[in-house]
Amino acid sequence: METHVPHVNKEENEDPGAAPYGNFINYYTFNPPENRLSLIPETLLEDIELGSERGLILDVGCNSGDLSVALYKHLLHEEASGSDFSKREVYLLGFDMDQDLILRAQNSNPFPQNIQFVPLDITDDPGSRTVLESYLGGFGCPRFHLCTCFAVTMWVHLNHGDAAFLSLLSRLASLCEFLLLEAQPWKCYRSAARRLRKLGRSDFDHFKTLEIRGDTAAHAREHLEKQCSMDLVQSFGNTTWDRSLLLFKRR
Ligand SMILES: C[S@@+](CC[C@H](N)C(=O)[O-])C[C@H]1O[C@@H](n2cnc3c(N)ncnc32)[C@H](O)[C@@H]1O
Repeated sequence: METHVPHVNKEENEDPGAAPYGNFINYYTFNPPENRLSLIPETLLEDIELGSERGLILDVGCNSGDLSVALYKHLLHEEASGSDFSKREVYLLGFDMDQDLILRAQNSNPFPQNIQFVPLDITDDPGSRTVLESYLGGFGCPRFHLCTCFAVTMWVHLNHGDAAFLSLLSRLASLCEFLLLEAQPWKCYRSAARRLRKLGRSDFDHFKTLEIRGDTAAHAREHLEKQCSMDLVQSFGNTTWDRSLLLFKRR
């Protein structure tokens, strides 16, 4: 017999008043890293041919860094090898526009030699470009090997509009060889707007006038493939929050 499990959208329980940019405090108590990590193969770095050489990873909108650190461990097979991370030439840069969250990330960073967290707003160009180029320059690399962008696109889209959504994708594509993207689906936009209204605050600046709507992941894919010389190479399936994890590769 089928058991009825009531559907609970955990995002409904977030405190949107404090987080108009998705900068939730304690985000990982209701969306633990495992929700995404369980879909991402541990062999991803080997699969994209980063097994032996130095690898640079960029995590965009890293919040308090929990997923960045967990992803780093996941991809370096910490459990399997009990390895000495400092010997592996994989470096991760995480950034977020919320300085308090970045402070948290910095204070709890277990691998400061390999992982760095900095405050940056991706929509601030050239500000963010200068910082990212200088990080890459320190390694003599033109691009990050892998860029991850989990659950950030909607916040840029709602707060800055269609053009910013597309230019975010273009920026990400210009920064990396591989892009792992989790774009929030349209139903999340509606929930976010509803939560804001419930608090008696006006809508997100752009919500009502967005022309890019509906299947946001498909729109993102179309832009990346048609305008940014990237191809979708793999879909890792959908998270418990029904968001797809898509891997793109520079052509
Ligand atoms: C819902 S959280 C997702 C955190 C993390 N990426 C994850 O999926 O576990 C969205 C994060 O994006 C950040 N964010 C939103 N707009 C941003 C921007 N323009 N530049 C940098 N970070 C941004 C927020 O501060 C927030 O921490």
